[in-house]
Amino acid sequence: MQKENNVYQTCKFFKENLPVEHVGVALVLGSGLGDFIQSLNPMLELPYSQIPHFPQSTIKGHQGVFYLCQLEQVNLAILSGRVHLYEGYSPFEVAFATRVLGVLGVKNIILTNAAGALNPQFDVGSLMLITDHINMTGNNPLTGPNVDEWGPRFPDMSQVYSPELQQLALDTAKKLQIRLEKGVYLCIPGPSLETPAETRAFRFLGADAIGMSTVMEAIVAKHMGMRILGLSCLTNKNLPDCMAETSHEEILSQAKKANSILSTLLLDLIPRINSN
Ligand code: HPA
Repeated sequence: MQKENNVYQTCKFFKENLPVEHVGVALVLGSGLGDFIQSLNPMLELPYSQIPHFPQSTIKGHQGVFYLCQLEQVNLAILSGRVHLYEGYSPFEVAFATRVLGVLGVKNIILTNAAGALNPQFDVGSLMLITDHINMTGNNPLTGPNVDEWGPRFPDMSQVYSPELQQLALDTAKKLQIRLEKGVYLCIPGPSLETPAETRAFRFLGADAIGMSTVMEAIVAKHMGMRILGLSCLTNKNLPDCMAETSHEEILSQAKKANSILSTLLLDLIPRINSN
């Protein structure tokens, strides 16, 4: 009940403060991927600390600001920075912003992240379109009483990532000559990175990339019937037989490099989403 009230209070705050009636697309920018905003001219900029009940990011590389922008005809909400399970937030809190956007009636959400490549054919610096996910966190944001107005008790997960949005992303990447891999994203709770034995096991399970975010938000978005597009920036490569050391600094620095290609893709893609 308290959780539900918090969501409705935050929705009320947005209804009172957003200068537009309708938001067509929401975009969550992951670790080190905040540069996209620089190419836009936001109508509204709200630090998460000014938004009721919004959890605050505790880590480097996550800005913690909500923006509202107009990209051609599309009103775009951008969440620059997110919170994670490893920060100590509950699955509900991790997906809180997604829930609020869904209750506000946003129909399309783009989830971006920095991820490690597990597929040996993928290169560091490339983008990966998420076709499906594996939830290895042992957590689920829908645990507890179901709020029927938000979605069903047992939501279908046979197609989490929208086939239409995937096709649109692939067509846009092709047009722009951007390399866009396709694959399965596996989410671990973190914050420790994976061992060589875990890397081998996850690859064996069918994962192409690994990270510590996105899946809680995707489950909530799917619960609400939103169309989801998932994009990973591959910041490092994990090969179990020649495991290289990975640091958070390195992940952030690679994500910074991938920013411009991600921005190019998103700038072309987003205006075409709403009318789809
Ligand atoms: N493992 C887990 N999370 C990550 C990685 C990784 O290799 N790279 C970026 N986020």
